[in-house]
Amino acid sequence: MTRLKVAVIGAGNWGRNHVRSLAALPEADVAAVCDLDQSVREAMARQYPGTLVTDSVDKALEAAEAVVVATPAVEHPKLASAAIERGLPVLVEKPFALSVKEATQMAELGASRGVPILVGHLLVFHPVVERLKAMIGAGDLGQIYYLYSQRVNLGQVRPDENALWSFGPHDVSVALELLGQAPTKVAAHGKSYLQPGVEDVVFMTMEFASGVMAHVQMSWLDPHKERRLTVVGSSKMVVFDDMQAREKLKVYDKGVDRPPEYGSYGESLTVRQGDISIPLVPGGEPLKAELRHFVRVARGEEEPRQTAEDGVTVVRILEAATESLSRGGTLVDMTTGAEV
Ligand SMILES: NC(=O)c1ccc[n+]([C@@H]2O[C@H](COP(=O)([O-])OP(=O)(O)OC[C@H]3O[C@@H](n4cnc5c(N)ncnc54)[C@H](O)[C@@H]3O)[C@@H](O)[C@H]2O)c1
Repeated sequence: MTRLKVAVIGAGNWGRNHVRSLAALPEADVAAVCDLDQSVREAMARQYPGTLVTDSVDKALEAAEAVVVATPAVEHPKLASAAIERGLPVLVEKPFALSVKEATQMAELGASRGVPILVGHLLVFHPVVERLKAMIGAGDLGQIYYLYSQRVNLGQVRPDENALWSFGPHDVSVALELLGQAPTKVAAHGKSYLQPGVEDVVFMTMEFASGVMAHVQMSWLDPHKERRLTVVGSSKMVVFDDMQAREKLKVYDKGVDRPPEYGSYGESLTVRQGDISIPLVPGGEPLKAELRHFVRVARGEEEPRQTAEDGVTVVRILEAATESLSRGGTLVDMTTGAEV
């Protein structure tokens, strides 16, 4: 089979990983790398001799059969729309856009032209998240009570998007993937310490109609680097620690049980301290899995696992969280936008 010609627009800190991963995929070729920054272009030209490296989006699109947009989010709508207008399938990095309006316009453009859009919600392609989803789907954890994730580290401090928009798409997309539902209410509390109006630290809570609560802690102003998700169910609890090189997933056979004969008396609750097990989850780079999937999407062999609609939903949640941030952390109703 011939290799799919893919152009990468934006080859900065993250986009260069797309270029590297695509170059290593047997089913794809890097048709072009487009970046406005001359030093980035020079580095790319040195690393990938023979590849078209350009500052012209048009030239990059001309050379491509599919496109990855990995510029800062503010540029996503313009660049993704240019690709869609040419009928080119596009992978748009997270966050899909910085407003529901722009996200919806991209989704509608893709739908009207019949051009597939994949949103770069990377963690959905993480083998541990896939395993976790299968465990929850099989009922292994019992009824899901709540989950929380911590995504904190020191830097990279962004000038144009706050910690919520920079980190939030990861945790929100994972929560939606695991729970299979969108929240009904959202609240976010945060503070800007380094740059006025750009929150460095955000604590966000989502409430779901099922009664599940999901909490996300995000910061680029923290002494620790944490990438941890805890899911608490009625039968079992799990911790996904992405900072571990191995044994990223731990399953705790722990809980609080209520024998049926005791009704609702608190004193009848018994704490269960069972085994801790470590499922063997095959490794694998999520970015490679995402890009392999993108190639199949572009060839019409698979439907996008993270569609433009998923992108819009995540942006809608982040927009509601932004509204809550501006109101000092009050709960925002996702359907009406009103304070609850
Ligand atoms: N999926 C993930 O895990 C992950 C991780 C990091 C960043 N990201 C996302 O990837 C995107 C890029 O982030 P980054 O950290 O690489 O940013 P960056 O600032 O390091 O790089 C962006 C690059 O895009 C280039 N650029 C900007 N506008 C352009 C345009 N109109 N045409 C061509 N090039 C243009 C810049 O010159 C720069 O080299 C963001 O949306 C970010 O949120 C995703």
